[in-house]
Amino acid sequence: MNHFSILLFGIFIILTSSFLGLISSSLNQLGNLKQSTETLELNDAGDLILVEGDPLYPMKLSGLSEQGHLEYIKLGCVNCHTQQVRREELGKDLERGFGQRVTVPRDYIMQANVLLGYSRIGPDLSSVGARKTDLNWHLLHLYNPQITSPGSLMPPFPFLFETVEISETTATDNALVFPEGNPYSPKDSIAIIPTKRAIALVEYLLNLDINYNLPEAVVTKNDTGE
Ligand code: HEC
Repeated sequence: MNHFSILLFGIFIILTSSFLGLISSSLNQLGNLKQSTETLELNDAGDLILVEGDPLYPMKLSGLSEQGHLEYIKLGCVNCHTQQVRREELGKDLERGFGQRVTVPRDYIMQANVLLGYSRIGPDLSSVGARKTDLNWHLLHLYNPQITSPGSLMPPFPFLFETVEISETTATDNALVFPEGNPYSPKDSIAIIPTKRAIALVEYLLNLDINYNLPEAVVTKNDTGE
């Protein structure tokens, strides 16, 4: 019995120390990452220093984008979309134009929930804000992907929009603008208005952009992936 408790104690020590080792080595490697400016200069000692006044990257998300980030989680977008651009040896992400450089741990330091994703039914969204810059495009695509991308496998999210009968009192300033003659356009008397959830989600998508330089990851590809 005595030997048994020594054995248990030994197992406990081994498991605990390897677990702590795992945490402390990752913390040591990644725990001290900070935001950085795009233009870094060398000081006299040969260390890289931040240039004062330059914007810091990765940027902190605005309040509205932060709400959109939560909608992205709630709506399960992460089931079909990744936010990680892999090295050339691991896939053709750069060639496909998912980003102008690979993603690195520093890209994620400002995010409370890191949405790397695990499956790619749809394209990687690390830099979708740089690829697709039009608010109306994103809203139409969310309302029904078939409008902008016929044959798309992405589900529609019509519950993020209100369907209103146009009258003298309805405000239709921010109603969706459908392409001429699109089969999914509503009747002339109907307007499709995005809800706050849709606006926040698209604000988040428009802000997804990793095309900035970091000391360890410099933008290498141009917009066409060449
Ligand atoms: C069932 C899988 C699936 C889910 C869930 C899904 N998507 Fe998609 N998504 C796709 C596919 C497939 C495409 C490519 C075709 C297209 O453009 O619709 C796509 C394309 C996109 C694009 C355009 C990307 C580009 O580079 O052109 C955006 C933006 C997008 N999705 C955002 C979202 C958001 C936001 C959500 C959650 C509200 C979401 N998706 C949920 C499958 C999915």
